[in-house]
Amino acid sequence: MKPYVTVQQHILEQQRKHPSATGDFSLLLTGITLATRFIANEVRRAGLKDVYGDTGTINVQGELVQKLDRYADDTIIRCLNYRNMVSMIASEENQEAILLHNSLEGGKYIVIFDPLDGSSNIDVNISVGTIFSILGQPQNQEKQETDILQCGYKQLAGGYVIYGPSTELVYTTGHGVHIFTLDPDIGTYILVDEYKKIPSKSKIFSINEGNYQSFPNGVKNWLAYVKDEKNGPYSARYVGSLVADFHRTLLKGGIFVYPPTTKSPNGKLRLLYEANPLAFIAEQAGGMASNGKQRILDIKPESLHQRTPLIIGSKEEAERVCNFLREDSH
Ligand code: AHG
Ligand code: MN
Ligand code: MN
Repeated sequence: MKPYVTVQQHILEQQRKHPSATGDFSLLLTGITLATRFIANEVRRAGLKDVYGDTGTINVQGELVQKLDRYADDTIIRCLNYRNMVSMIASEENQEAILLHNSLEGGKYIVIFDPLDGSSNIDVNISVGTIFSILGQPQNQEKQETDILQCGYKQLAGGYVIYGPSTELVYTTGHGVHIFTLDPDIGTYILVDEYKKIPSKSKIFSINEGNYQSFPNGVKNWLAYVKDEKNGPYSARYVGSLVADFHRTLLKGGIFVYPPTTKSPNGKLRLLYEANPLAFIAEQAGGMASNGKQRILDIKPESLHQRTPLIIGSKEEAERVCNFLREDSH
């Protein structure tokens, strides 16, 4: 009989493997999971409560802020700013980081998040998500926003919640990828899969071909390859919510590609709170994440909201895209 393991128990077990770890990290993660339970509750009532539509304000990304973006952002901040182990938080929805502890003591962790990913899908009842990344706060120095600009390989944890037919939490602390389903009746995330691995190859490709004309030639050549029936057949799947496209890729394998486009010459997706946490999970699951030139987790961030091209999924499929891009660059 499979035991019931809550996410809190699982995090504590994971922490036991870090001899130096205190309960702080586990408390921090439960702050995030609490916030996602509030958000899941709101997402499920979107049609009944006034959370469809936009707030009429534009965020730092130049995008119209949806009501649910704002609600999710406020909720995560309210669930974190009570906890004294968080030094600063940064999100897609706020221009600057929010310093929670100006003093030197207190605050061991930095939390960065995309409070609601896939906003364009909210009003059409398609899965959306929350993505989070946790970094260590450099100690013994005045805290400053640049403390956030750490390479992805330094992340202490990366994870996401997908608000789909069921609400699922996926996270890693560097010891495998673990999946939990929220039981809405008892309001608890229950472990459903441990040490998840991405199938090393799988004939599913995920890209928004509406941008085809502006893709680099290497991407066009790769698309010709996957559409050539002697290499296939491949299936095309594109939800338009990164969390949903990634979650399918984690479970079924395949490759998600968001290349540079005319509109987004550095790619559309954000390095710190979209690409990095998902790249951490992808690599822990035996997959790969690249910007076409280098490993996502090795990119040194220059700014909080910087964007990156993203190639993420089954190792073999990701390497194939990168090979086409390399051939094109010669
Ligand atoms: P967000 O809603 O947080 O701004 O993210 C939207 C992103 C991501 O979820 C998705 O993969 C991508 O936008 C889709 O972009 P296109 O509509 O250009 O394909
Ligand atoms: Mn997003
Ligand atoms: Mn978002």
